[in-house]
Amino acid sequence: MSIRIVGTGSALPERKVTNEEIAELVDTSDEWIRERTGIGSRYVSTKETVASLAADACVRALRQAGREAEEVQLLLVATCTPEDALPCMACQVQEKIGAVNAVAFDVNAACAGFLFALNTAWAYIASGIYENALIVGSEVLSKMIDWNDRGTCILFGDGAGAVMVEKCTQGGVLGFVQHSDGKKGAVLTCGSRQLNNLYVKSSEGESYVQMDGREVFSFAVKQIPLTIQQALEKAALAVGDVDLFVLHQANKRIIDGIARRLGVDISRFPMNLDRVGNTSSAAIPLLLDELNREGRIEKGQIIVLSGFGAGLACGACVMEW
Ligand code: COA
Repeated sequence: MSIRIVGTGSALPERKVTNEEIAELVDTSDEWIRERTGIGSRYVSTKETVASLAADACVRALRQAGREAEEVQLLLVATCTPEDALPCMACQVQEKIGAVNAVAFDVNAACAGFLFALNTAWAYIASGIYENALIVGSEVLSKMIDWNDRGTCILFGDGAGAVMVEKCTQGGVLGFVQHSDGKKGAVLTCGSRQLNNLYVKSSEGESYVQMDGREVFSFAVKQIPLTIQQALEKAALAVGDVDLFVLHQANKRIIDGIARRLGVDISRFPMNLDRVGNTSSAAIPLLLDELNREGRIEKGQIIVLSGFGAGLACGACVMEW
């Protein structure tokens, strides 16, 4: 028993922000950002929330799958930027789309979050507990960014991507691996609420994303080719069998480096980071939805998904479309 994707959907905020606009805020340039990252623009929320973007993406995925919200049994939201601590984003999305029969909860594995949620859904469905799941990666990272820090504010964007998955007996997910390395957690952080209670009075203010860009870069370029190889081994496939590598859209140079290490032509690594930036857990399903709607994925093709980010965490999934 496995799972296959039967519908995809995505949503972006209305407001697009170009590199030139960012260069008005910090000492940078369109040329520098494009050369070092491949990013040309991103979307920034003015009114959209994690829950509203997620709900829009879910509705589109359901429509494409030809399913009603009431049919959804498991609803997972992958996010590291929830607006509220309670209730979880998944329950808010459940309410917005009317998925009244679903069990709903959030998964946070930062930029690997969508993959970890997909694997969670696979485990529930393969063990027979549920028959379908709606999985959405949704982020409003713009509220966690220090817009004075040119090392990070150039990278991230807001958005959501969703997939509807159902149990299947042929094809679908063929192999999966996940890794977490908490020892390297300090490389990419964003502090949250301070301890402030009867006994402790916190004096610290809000905190924003902090990153050692070079460490993250080298982790991704070294670890992701190995992780993809491990997932392919589980699927009894080789790199040459893969039609498309749909990777987390962090940085074009990272993707170029991974392609080189795997010995695969870059044309098999579709990208949309030039238009949307790094949208963390939304990146993989957002790109998948674009490819699917443009008819760039054909039935029977072998697709590798791979995500990586804060934790440090990473994963890869091999599937037959
Ligand atoms: N514009 C112009 N100059 C910038 C800049 C910007 N936006 N950001 C940094 N610089 C400067 C630095 O201050 C430094 O100047 P110095 O040499 O005078 O000290 C110089 O550019 C080189 O900085 P460095 O940090 O070494 O650049 P880099 O080549 O490593 O590129 C990143 C920086 C962030 C683009 C790169 O490290 C990266 O993409 N890392 C991965 C980040 C990522 O994807 N994170 C999310 C993973 S989920």
